[in-house]
Amino acid sequence: MRGARPGQGKGVSQHVAPEDPAPTSGSGATITPYRDGPLIVRGDFRLLDQDGNEIDPGRETIALCRCGKSGIKPFCDGSHKRAGFSAPSPPSRPRPAARILRADAP
Ligand code: FES
Repeated sequence: MRGARPGQGKGVSQHVAPEDPAPTSGSGATITPYRDGPLIVRGDFRLLDQDGNEIDPGRETIALCRCGKSGIKPFCDGSHKRAGFSAPSPPSRPRPAARILRADAP
């Protein structure tokens, strides 16, 4: 169910992403690292914890915290602004392929 929003009613607000083009139909999800902000996930996705349990995203487009300061992890609550989180949108440098972590790695 996508009715309730994580953190809703607790004085916590989630980051609201600016409007971007929606992913092309049938292309799956897109994940966009926002400059100095969260990872915006759009499209057809499932959110699971590391044990494989479904996490209700509460909406079709979500912001995932990448600063580590959110009070509603894994979702962004805007704390990155107060924390002065800074990160570019694209990678700041190429990453050697051997160091890229696999999603199925423990
Ligand atoms: S990225 Fe927004 S609270 Fe962490």
